Amino acid sequence: MTESAGRARQSEIYLDGVLGRIPRVPVSYPRLVKAAKRAMSKEAFAYVAGSAGLETTASANRRAFGRHRIVPRVLKDVGTRDPTVELFGTRRSTPLYLAPIGVLDLAHADADTGAARAGAGLGIPVALSTQASTPMERVTSAIRGAEAWYQLYWSSSRELTESLVRRAEASGCEALLVTLDTHLLGWRPRDLDLGFLPFARGRGIAQYTSDPVFMRLVNGRIAATQARPRPKVTPQAVRTLVEMSSRTPGSLAHNLRSPVPRAAVETFLDLFADPTLTWPDLTWLRSITNLPIVLKGVLHPDDARGALDSGVDGIIVSNHGGRQVDGAVAALDALPNIVDVVSGRIPVLFDSGVRSGADVFVALALGASAVGIGRPYVYGLAAGGEAGARDVLRNILAEFDITMALAGCTTIAEITRDTLAPG
Ligand code: FNR
Repeated sequence: MTESAGRARQSEIYLDGVLGRIPRVPVSYPRLVKAAKRAMSKEAFAYVAGSAGLETTASANRRAFGRHRIVPRVLKDVGTRDPTVELFGTRRSTPLYLAPIGVLDLAHADADTGAARAGAGLGIPVALSTQASTPMERVTSAIRGAEAWYQLYWSSSRELTESLVRRAEASGCEALLVTLDTHLLGWRPRDLDLGFLPFARGRGIAQYTSDPVFMRLVNGRIAATQARPRPKVTPQAVRTLVEMSSRTPGSLAHNLRSPVPRAAVETFLDLFADPTLTWPDLTWLRSITNLPIVLKGVLHPDDARGALDSGVDGIIVSNHGGRQVDGAVAALDALPNIVDVVSGRIPVLFDSGVRSGADVFVALALGASAVGIGRPYVYGLAAGGEAGARDVLRNILAEFDITMALAGCTTIAEITRDTLAPG
């Protein structure tokens, strides 16, 4: 990105405006959320927008940004800006990445492939979720060599965990993000009120149903439970069966008669995560892969110290967008302490609450090495498919470029705590 990145996007929009066209996907964040809400089912919107409990963590994430104000500077030569960053040994064209988001087909049929392509076109790596709607191999082949990372939910089956890691390596993923804050699903009232968990309907388990180890476990389960009575048939149960069957590999007609879709859901619910994991388990993960290991969900300085001691390659300060613990510390409030503890030894990535280019600036100023975009790109995807996700990312990059210039910064290294004042 050079001088023109922010201005190029503005000019494109304003010149379109002269011709009577306004952006397909709203630029203003509240209007983007509204457009996405209109485009999604009520269950899908609740799943994406919802957070844990009273959703105070999600609002704390936003309020924390309000406590840091950017101080504009004048009369500095900011004619060209360099937004590149070095991360995991590679120089990247932007400091952004797409945070891993499960069940993207709830937003739009373009789903994981659409989001990954939107990022790839802008040099933004995508973190492919273990709860994706599309097998990782299909996404990485669709983005043809553009950078992808794999987000791992560490299953209670080691064999399955290893198989997912091997597939991530084989499909060219360049880092392993191990999400540690979701060994249990948070208490999410919006989803509970609708009785809606996508996985229980066979959605968001494509990495599993495309996995040979997982399918072996499913077949073992079927063999062991042949004699069990089938659940009572209700109209909703039939709808769910059709939904599950349409998302299981193989033809719908075959799946409707097969025990596999239901057994796959049950096996997934049993194996999803391992709440007994402790620091020494990371030694095993390190022993099976050479990919950079990045721990996602670190909020306590002692856990950052643990990460350093265990020799991982990076951490992500994140509270999962407030979806796990209500009343939790805002991720942005946790960031500076963790950056101080880590003291440059490994990259400290950040997500949770980033909505704009100015937010990206603040997170970088507080020491983030790269910044994860979550819900905004999902809303773009919902409102306009792949093109909508791309527009949202372009808008964030444009605003970030303009903010850098107006704050007097020409490189990411210049975006330090000194560029901020208390709010
Ligand atoms: C997530 N997040 C997430 N994280 C992860 O490690 N694996 C996953 O499968 C998912 N799935 C997921 C689904 C949805 C609908 C959301 C909103 C979030 C968390 C995600 O990576 C990131 O931490 C948050 O999205 C950051 O918060 P904001 O900025 O989106 O509010």
